[in-house]
Amino acid sequence: MKITSLGYLRVESPNAKEWATFGPEVLGLAVSEDLAGGPDTVSLTNDDRPGRLQISEGPHNRVQCIGWELPGAGDLADAVATLEQAGVTVERGTAEECRAAKVRQLVRFTDPAGFTHELFYGQLVVPGSFRPGRGTAGFVTRGQGLGHVVLVVPDLTESLDFFCTVLGFRVSDEIDFDGNTLVFLHVNPRHHSLAIMGIPGMRGLHHLMLQVEDLDDVGIAHQLVLDRQIPLAMTLGRHANDRMLSFYVRSPSGFEIEYGWGASTVDVPDQWVVTHMKSTSIWGHRPGDAPPPACLEPVSPPAS
Ligand SMILES: [Fe+2]
Repeated sequence: MKITSLGYLRVESPNAKEWATFGPEVLGLAVSEDLAGGPDTVSLTNDDRPGRLQISEGPHNRVQCIGWELPGAGDLADAVATLEQAGVTVERGTAEECRAAKVRQLVRFTDPAGFTHELFYGQLVVPGSFRPGRGTAGFVTRGQGLGHVVLVVPDLTESLDFFCTVLGFRVSDEIDFDGNTLVFLHVNPRHHSLAIMGIPGMRGLHHLMLQVEDLDDVGIAHQLVLDRQIPLAMTLGRHANDRMLSFYVRSPSGFEIEYGWGASTVDVPDQWVVTHMKSTSIWGHRPGDAPPPACLEPVSPPAS
């Protein structure tokens, strides 16, 4: 399967409205000028593709859908065939759903952990439309997509097998820490577009990473977070594997935003060698003052 990037993320949250200020003012995202998701949805983006991050008012902090880009219609048809051969039920998006997602065509399925994913092609691009909510040098997207997501899954082996064997993700590296294993997966030069961490009985979104072009933008965002007394989930630090210099802020919706700069890339995928590490960071990334994550939910064990 030819997934090329993380295209979009939709989240449900009781605090969706807070993103109308948190997104543009703190993170420097642009508010997408459309109401495709309805008046209860805050639609944001970090480049010229509107609505890459949509947060909709709802009773729970939970991921509604993770959107993955494919190059074209033929690749989407091939992906459907691959999923169905693997015994996965695939639902075709309606014209209305495609319009709301701003794509030509999409299909939807559920992964073994229970997350809803969409595969799409033909995302809307409005060249020159990116108007960040504050001064910023911009975000690293283009061939690398929106950023990366880190998911908590109840069964790491089962999810890893699904993402690699069925969806075609490639392992970048693995990190063992605090008794957990994190596996990092790439589909383009971004070191990881997805990472998964196994926590038995739990499922949820740990964080979304947004990468800025200029180191000063990390400092400016960090200062804004401190000034506004927004809970910091992890202090400034530099990751051991992708060398991202970042901090983690608790979003209004229980998951964290990793705000980073300077990550290394996977430039020659066929020559990439998987390694494993014992620490997530070279320095920093100490726990901050944020409350425990609130975008995780218990998963009932399968009926035996
Ligand atoms: Fe991250």
